[in-house]
Amino acid sequence: MVNTPRKKLAILISGRGSNMEAILNSTRQAYYPAEICLVISDNKDAAGLDTARNANIKASAFQRCDYETRLEHEAAIMNAINSACADIVCLAGYMRILSADFTKTYEGKLINIHPSLLPKYKGLETHQRAIDAGDKEHGCTVHFVNSEMDGGEIIAQAKVPILKTDTADTLSARVLVEEHKLYSKVIADLAKF
Ligand code: GAR
Repeated sequence: MVNTPRKKLAILISGRGSNMEAILNSTRQAYYPAEICLVISDNKDAAGLDTARNANIKASAFQRCDYETRLEHEAAIMNAINSACADIVCLAGYMRILSADFTKTYEGKLINIHPSLLPKYKGLETHQRAIDAGDKEHGCTVHFVNSEMDGGEIIAQAKVPILKTDTADTLSARVLVEEHKLYSKVIADLAKF
């Protein structure tokens, strides 16, 4: 069997980092075709930074308030991604809208996970909006990122039923379980090419 090098992932987070941790756990499988080379957060207090550091993964905070312009902030992040030689850039709860320049730079290798069945419910509070609309099902989407928020080509989705008793919290907890499985699977599929 030919031993192909594992693809390098840069993961951008803003907080808890449970998707990043699920990907990290997947990379511990012997035949998983990718590894994390860098975790970046726009929030120095993001819990996910500690998770990454405890796993001996380089983890850096780039806070917007430390840069005069959005352009300089993004340039610093791009510089870190390029220095780490990342093959795939994964947004995993990164709650900042990226410029068209950024999304163009990583076109085709920049992906995001979003907690809804896109194109439904772009943006925030997706779980409550799905409940309020009386939807029977909800879920998550992994998609390529382009300059339109939550608007890039859909790669894969996972669905969960909405129960009569669901609150935004109970529904988001069930969707999150699917997010963790879906993101690792999509990354593995992309990394094989
Ligand atoms: C996840 O549910 C992710 O889908 C969502 O933020 C959460 C981050 O959780 N992302 C978005 O809403 C982006 N539009 P995590 O930090 O535990 O992975």
